[in-house]
Amino acid sequence: MLENYQTSFLSNIKDIIGRHWLRRRPHLKILDMGCEPGGHQLKAIAELTSGEVFGINVPENFPSPEAITVAGDRVRMLRMDGMNLEFEDSTFDLVISANVIEHAPNPDRFISEAARVLKPDGLCFIETAPVWTSARGHHIMEMMVAENCPQETAFIDDGSVIPEWAHLNLSRDELERILAEKLQPETVQYILWYLYDSNDLCKQPWSSLSESFHRHFPHMHLMPRPLPGIDLSKMPADGREDYLVYGFKAVGRKRALGPVARRLYWRLRKLGL
Ligand SMILES: C[S@@+](CC[C@H](N)C(=O)[O-])C[C@H]1O[C@@H](n2cnc3c(N)ncnc32)[C@H](O)[C@@H]1O
Repeated sequence: MLENYQTSFLSNIKDIIGRHWLRRRPHLKILDMGCEPGGHQLKAIAELTSGEVFGINVPENFPSPEAITVAGDRVRMLRMDGMNLEFEDSTFDLVISANVIEHAPNPDRFISEAARVLKPDGLCFIETAPVWTSARGHHIMEMMVAENCPQETAFIDDGSVIPEWAHLNLSRDELERILAEKLQPETVQYILWYLYDSNDLCKQPWSSLSESFHRHFPHMHLMPRPLPGIDLSKMPADGREDYLVYGFKAVGRKRALGPVARRLYWRLRKLGL
């Protein structure tokens, strides 16, 4: 029912609730920004609390009646833009989002909205990959090609078809020439359209996302993730640190734990509690 990356997000949420003070609140109010539209993931998130779960997304037909049924009674699905949330300040205990921020035209606004609707003692968890400036930041994934160009059999997203960082290093014509040697003409046009003409990606460097997180959350723990096995010789020549960050997990709070709470928190963690 859920893809691997969606199951992995779910297990991260479970982990987050289990490790932090949130687990002592049985009735969590959770917001998933850019949720899985079928309602399956929201249903699974609702099983982690006896509180309420809100899922927002932007398509015109969101939410579908089937998805509302799948998600169940404790889930509310609302058509809303993550950059302009229609919730009061300080509404949620936990604000989460997976694989959405790289699509938001204004990620800084997305992050500031996540911070605004979070309760002062709440927690925000945002994860995604790939970041635009990473080796595969073009975001052309195998399942996208399979869906949009079903006749294509030669596309594989391992850096051998679209060279790593080609979307930053090459002009449209240069990339078209490389792709035309390997892929069917419709696939080449689909890839060029997605990269150069569609507005699906926000195309911001990792450093700018990271700066926004730190600005909107006084207490932010960023865990950047590299992509193993990439060919560093293809990295853009200015060698910025941005290029090595493939994806990330971000855990943000608005208020720091006090010294006593922090000591207690670490002691409980040491004891495995
Ligand atoms: C790759 S999907 C990820 C969906 C889901 N979080 C998951 O992990 O399966 C990206 C989602 O972000 C949504 N999205 C894009 N821009 C958004 C915005 N500004 N506000 C809310 N959702 C947005 C898209 O409609 C799409 O459903």
